[in-house]
Amino acid sequence: MSIRFLGTGSYVPEKIITNNDLAKIVDTSDEWIVQRVGVKERHVSTGETAEEFAAQAAKRALISAGIFADEIDLIIAATISSECVCPTVAGYVQKAIGATCPAFDVNSACSGFLFALETAVSYLSRPGYGKILVIGSERMSKLIDWADRSTCVIFGDGAGAAVIGKGDGYLASKINTYGGNEVIEIPSFSGSSPFFEKDAKHPYIFMDGQETFKFAVNRIVEDIKQVTYDAGLILDDIDHVVTHQANIRIIEFAAKRLKIPMEKFVVNIDKYGNTSSASVPMALDELARSGKLERGDKIVMCAFGGGLSSAACLIEW
Ligand code: UT7
Repeated sequence: MSIRFLGTGSYVPEKIITNNDLAKIVDTSDEWIVQRVGVKERHVSTGETAEEFAAQAAKRALISAGIFADEIDLIIAATISSECVCPTVAGYVQKAIGATCPAFDVNSACSGFLFALETAVSYLSRPGYGKILVIGSERMSKLIDWADRSTCVIFGDGAGAAVIGKGDGYLASKINTYGGNEVIEIPSFSGSSPFFEKDAKHPYIFMDGQETFKFAVNRIVEDIKQVTYDAGLILDDIDHVVTHQANIRIIEFAAKRLKIPMEKFVVNIDKYGNTSSASVPMALDELARSGKLERGDKIVMCAFGGGLSSAACLIEW
């Protein structure tokens, strides 16, 4: 399969909430959050929506790719925290940037960006699709119970985007779904039908942290091994690992089991927390702008989370 990354962009809302700020709301401490999760601060919206973050990240990705909105043939956005189910985030972005192409959303929670990328790659093999904008955008702060210390300290808001075109840089990929709601459940808005006989669901994110942790480490390790093998490479060939930023200890465990040095992992959870589907494209954008990337570098991207789901791909920059 054939793609090339033409540009990346990202955006976070201005307001920063530190761990000490959170310690004023719930029974927690900077020490616990840094040691157990690795987050020091996160950006939280005071008015902007996931749709608006997505448009900002998209504009930056277009600038980085050096192309105009009317050159985009398709927009795919991953999100679980949009303001509206319809219009879609991708549709909002289409109008905001002045594109006219088709646009739709996908949802695979924290793995959403890589599911969207996989979808975009399939479209690129068809006639009429030359450049595709892929986005992950989340206002996780709207899904959190801010009185629940086990989740409110983890998440943050933000968006990342990438423009991809035809090339030969998508060496291998894998997407996985393990259906069920026992480990993570993120309800959507439900009205109050007088005819519906079941109790309304709890309105916030539910996560069994320890089960998710084990799932995450296993999936990173297995998915990275698989795509590396499928690409005909060995783990030593990987130059950079861009993984979902859910917990620094997850990344450290995976690095140890894969025997990949931590220096090859992009880590920005300390600044942004877990931004769900935005986390991989935000980390990719950070890497792209860091000056550490060279054309031809091998990057493995991987994500895991609600669904349960996981995904990985190996790309050549
Ligand atoms: O993006 C989707 C994927 N998500 C993930 O991959 C998340 C994976 N899971 C995790 O990152 C971790 O399991 C958490 C960060 C969610 C929790 O960390 P943990 O080390 O697994 O903590 P725990 O749930 O086992 O709780 C240990 C203790 C408990 O106290 P007791 O029962 O031992 O007295 C908790 O009540 O830590 C307590 N605790 C806290 N203490 C201070 C839980 N949250 C907090 C907190 N501050 N914010």
